[in-house]
Parts: sequence; C-alpha cells; structure tokens
Amino acid sequence: MNLLEAARRVKELQQEINHHDFLYYVRNSPRISDAAYDRLRRELEDLEEKYPSLRSPHSPTQRVGAEPRSSLPPVLHLRPMLSLDSTTSADEAREFDTRLKKLLERETIYYTIEPKFDGLSVELVYESGDLIRGSTRGNGLIGEDITPNIKTVGAVPLQLRGGSPPARLCVRGEALMPLEGFQKLNQRMIEGDESPFANPRNAAAGSLRQLDSRITASRPLTFFAYEIMVVEEGPPVPSHTREMELLGEWGFRVDDHIKLCSHIEEAIDFHAKLARSRDDLPFEIDGVVIQVDSKGERELAGARSRSPRWAIALKFEPRREITVIEDIIVQVGRTGKLTPVALLRPVDVSGVTVSRATLHNAGEVAKKDVRRGDKVRIERAGDVIPAVVERIEEGEKSRGEPFVMPDRCPVCGSAVTAEGAYHYCGGGNSCPSQLKRGIEHFASRGAMDIEGLGKRTVDLLVERRLVKSLVDLYRLTPEVLSELDGFAEKSAQNLMEAIFSSRKVSLARFIYALGIRNVGEHVARLLADHFGSSEKLAQASPEELAAIHEVGPEVARSVFNYFRDSRNLSTIALLRALGVEIQSPEKAGGPGSLEGKSFVFTGSLDSLTRDQAKVLITSRGGKVGSGVSKKTDYLVAGADPGSKHAQAVKLGIPILSEEDFLKMLETGL
Ligand code: IVH
Repeated sequence: MNLLEAARRVKELQQEINHHDFLYYVRNSPRISDAAYDRLRRELEDLEEKYPSLRSPHSPTQRVGAEPRSSLPPVLHLRPMLSLDSTTSADEAREFDTRLKKLLERETIYYTIEPKFDGLSVELVYESGDLIRGSTRGNGLIGEDITPNIKTVGAVPLQLRGGSPPARLCVRGEALMPLEGFQKLNQRMIEGDESPFANPRNAAAGSLRQLDSRITASRPLTFFAYEIMVVEEGPPVPSHTREMELLGEWGFRVDDHIKLCSHIEEAIDFHAKLARSRDDLPFEIDGVVIQVDSKGERELAGARSRSPRWAIALKFEPRREITVIEDIIVQVGRTGKLTPVALLRPVDVSGVTVSRATLHNAGEVAKKDVRRGDKVRIERAGDVIPAVVERIEEGEKSRGEPFVMPDRCPVCGSAVTAEGAYHYCGGGNSCPSQLKRGIEHFASRGAMDIEGLGKRTVDLLVERRLVKSLVDLYRLTPEVLSELDGFAEKSAQNLMEAIFSSRKVSLARFIYALGIRNVGEHVARLLADHFGSSEKLAQASPEELAAIHEVGPEVARSVFNYFRDSRNLSTIALLRALGVEIQSPEKAGGPGSLEGKSFVFTGSLDSLTRDQAKVLITSRGGKVGSGVSKKTDYLVAGADPGSKHAQAVKLGIPILSEEDFLKMLETGL
C-alpha cells in the first residue's frame, strides 16, 4: 500500500469508527460486534503507526489518552458559564413563573423542562467542525483545560457530524459517570487499595481532572449536551428546542426526556414524575431544569451576576442524610467475601428508609475511622446500596471500640484469610451464607433464570436443610417444597416447572451461574465464545485465559483456580447428570453465526456499505450472492430496492429490512 492509498484507507476507517462510536456512545445502539469494531481499530492503529503523518488529532485513535501533563492549564471561557438558581419548593417555581411573566409582560411563557444531570459541566469548543478544546467550569470565567481528557469520552464528538459545520461552536453540557460503571470503578479502586469515590459526580470530576488522560480513558464517562453558548457562521438558534435538535444532528448525546410546556404546573408535575422514576435511570439526576424556550425572551429577561433570570433548577430532595451507626456487622457473600456493614438508625433518604450501609472492607472502615455509636453522613446513589460517606466529628464525646475483622467466619466459624484488600471465609458451600448467596446468584435472571427462587425461598430451603448444594435444586420434589411455610401447592408446582425448564442453558449463562470470582455476565460471554465448551474452559491455562481480549490476569487466575477445585468439578458433573444441558455457542462467530446462509442485497443501505456488509456476513460463515435464486436464503432490501425485490417476492424468499439485518448480525438467525 502506498501513502496515497493509506491516506484514503485511514480516512475511511476514521469515518467508519467515528460512526460506530456515535452509534455506541450517543445512540446507545451498536451495530457491529465488539470483535468487528476491534478489527477496524487495529487496522487504523497499524496504518497510523506506519504512516505517522496520517494521524490527525481528530482520529478516533486519539481517544486513548496522551502523555501526562504537569498541570491543567487555565482556560478563559468564551462566555461566562453561569450557574442556575435552585430550589426544592414547587411554590418557588411558581413564583419564578409569576416574576417572569411580569418582567416579559406575557400571559403565557413556553418553558422547556429536562433532567438536571448530576455531573460536572464542561465547555467544548469546535472550529470548522473539529474539537479544539474542552474545559471545566472552574469559577465560571476561568476553567481548567481538559482537552486530552475529554477526547477520551466516547459520547463527545471529535468532529461534528453533517456537512458545513459552523466556523466556531461552543457547546456546554454535563459529563457524567453512569451508575453501573461507577460501581465497577469503586470495586476496582477498593481492590487496588485506593479509596472509592463517594458518589458518581465525584468520580466523574476526579476522572476528568486527571493529568494523565490515559486514566480518564479507562473510566466509564458519558456526556450530555444541553446548550449552545456561541455559534459563528452557523444556523440560527431561535429556541432551546431547536438548540437541542441541532446538537443531536451534530452528533451530541442529548437526553430525550425534554418537554416543551406552556404552564408551570406541567413542569411541577414533570418534576414529581421524574422524582419517582429517577432510580430507574442509569445515571444520577438531581432535579429538573426549567427554562424559557425562546432565545429572544431569554435575551429580554437577562441575567444577574451569576445566574440567568430565565431559568431555575427545581431540585429533588437530597440523597444524603445524617444518622448514627448502631452496630457494625459482617456479611458473608457467595464468594465467601466478608463485608462490614453499618447497621444504622433508620433514616429516610429521599423517600427510601435506609437502615444499613456498606463499608466495603476492613481498610475502608479504618480509613473512615467509623465505629459503633458514631454520627455519619450516608448517601444513596440510584438504587445502589447506600454508602457511608464520612464520620461527623463530635468533639470530646467518648467513642466505641475500633472495628476489627473477625478471624473466624461469623456464620459458620471457618477460618478467615486475608487476600489483598478483602477477607474471605474458607468454608465454601458448607458455609450456609455462601451457599444461600450462591444459590440466589445461580437462580438469578442473567444466570439460570429460575423464576420464583428469590432470597426468601432460598433462605428457607437452606435453613431447612432441604438444599445443601446447587445440585440439590435439581433433586427437589413438589412434596418437599409444599412443606415450606407459605408455599401453596400452586407455587410449589410453578417453582418445580421453573427449575425443570432452567436445565437447557447457554454456555455463557452457565459459566456466569457458577459464580466464579470476578466473572460477571460479560466475562462469562467472552469465555463461552472463546472456548465453546465447559471442558475446554476447565482445561485452560492462566496464560491462555489472560490472552483473551478484556480478560486480565486476576480474572484469569480466578477462573483457573475455580477449575482446580475438585468440589467445583463434581458440582458441574452432577448438574449434568441431573439433566442440565449446556448449549455451546455456534462454532463460527458465536451468537451471531450465519453459517451456510446466502444473502443478496438490493437498494442502498444507510449505516454500512455493501462491502462492509459482505465482510460482516462472510466472517459469520455466510455467503453473499449477486442475483436472487431459489438458493437465496434472505434478500436484504435497503432504500429504493430494484427488481430483485419483486423476484424475491415471487420466489417467497424472506425479505429483511436494514434494521432486521443488523439485528441478525447481532443475534444470529
Ligand atoms: S442549563 C445558565 N441544563 O446545573 C446555566 N444545566 O447550577 C444553564 N446542569 O452548572 C444551564 N443539567 O452544570 C442546564 N439539563 C441541564 C443541566 C444543567 C445539569 C448543571 C449545569 C450547571 C448547574 C447549575
């Protein structure tokens, strides 16, 4: 390949990867497999390595982070970044409305209402469509330059989408860490003996304000755009509604809860509704932003020194409360991990009564120096288990004894061993607590999916000694079950059926169900796709395991150790003997296999070229033909299909829309 060809291919790859980043991070609907995506990235990385002159600052490869800097340089914002007046009272929102109507001399004002994200605000500047700078809010006038860091956030476009970008564009939005990523990050931090973040907002801020952007790149951040601060030589922006549309067209992630309303009561209702459903969102919001929709009216209303008159934040009740630790107990999880848990004087935290909070591990208890009787601040993020944020100093008051991790398991009395930052009970499934939590996990939705086998039933089954191992589940009889308190004949029957039908299970679910330390649903799927059978997995060496993309040495060791324990091997053998049937993924291409199927295309595709589609099909074991015949299995019809469409109809060949086809690539036939 000569330089010219390489340049062409680099450009193509950059565009393609940017497009997939957009689908994945902004639209939340990836259209190619991780493996296919990785191939594209690797090809681009190789070419850029070989021809460094082709590497541009806007290449998606630049999202990985750069060399550390010595400090975050200051940035003067193009316009001051104002903050919002805020209240938790609906009446104050009504007063805001009355005040504005008077000021603007209007009977009706149109407001836009949207969630107030609980992250940190960021300013992005684009010139001729290229991202040239990102900065934090700082004091509103001067912020910190976080350009290399913000580039690692997948939802931030490195280049604006669509043709003819404005000469200059300054966008403001919120950087957030979604709850799931936040929990995982904290887990990782604790394992590395670092202090976990108190909440997702701190985690987002800590991740973005790094001198080493490679650290930012490893953190799960996202970005929602909500304001165009400056647009030069670009389209007119007469309203916030239009603003959000434009942001979406340029490739930013915008939230879709936004609503236009003509009455402040609608905003108050919206606030109440969102307050009820905020736990269902994958990220934290702390209220709603109510703002005048028309930019002209905003201009008329003007601003005070720090905040505009045309907007107000109607916040939710805070999720932080102060209470007292009545005791610190130790819980034993399914892997035997001991977790210190603070039993709290019950307290209402934004509508949920909280009576316990996790303290993670012995190190954390020591670092926070919390003891029985201490006053503490607790915080609940989403429906994540509440955490103790900090101890509240109470002067001279005499305090309880410092917490010590027991050296025997509080449930079964087995010896406790320290491993890294954690302590473990060595009792295995002879520890009732490990057994209960292990069965609960085994039966859970992403695992064997046994409906009706929740915590309460599991506890009963183990306490009555009806189930002494995972294997015993498949030996239960309706007679035994109907002996349980509160178990009517019908529910016993239902549970029996659920257990029976759980026996056919995919390899990935089965691996996950085993409850191997450090193996979540995602890793389980990787392992299943890689090895194809539990026998091959059981024989894998740590090196072989660690060589799998996304599997680290620690995970590899856990998996390896799990299969060296003869008790685990006999559990698997017995489950099989009792009828558990593990279904291996298709050999070629795993879940998305198209083995032996023949496809024909007609019309133009929106999201990928024919060549790309061809690669995706053949890499999954399928074929692509040029004309429709009786041997064709599927016709994929894009926009403006040609005569092949009629031919396929005539022959009764199934016709797939582009969307159907993409779904098929994901899930297989
Ligand atoms: S609009 C003049 N919309 O809330 C400011 N702000 O104290 C107009 N925020 O610093 C901002 N979500 O970081 C707006 N949907 C949203 C928001 C939002 C969160 C933050 C923003 C600002 C703070 C106000």
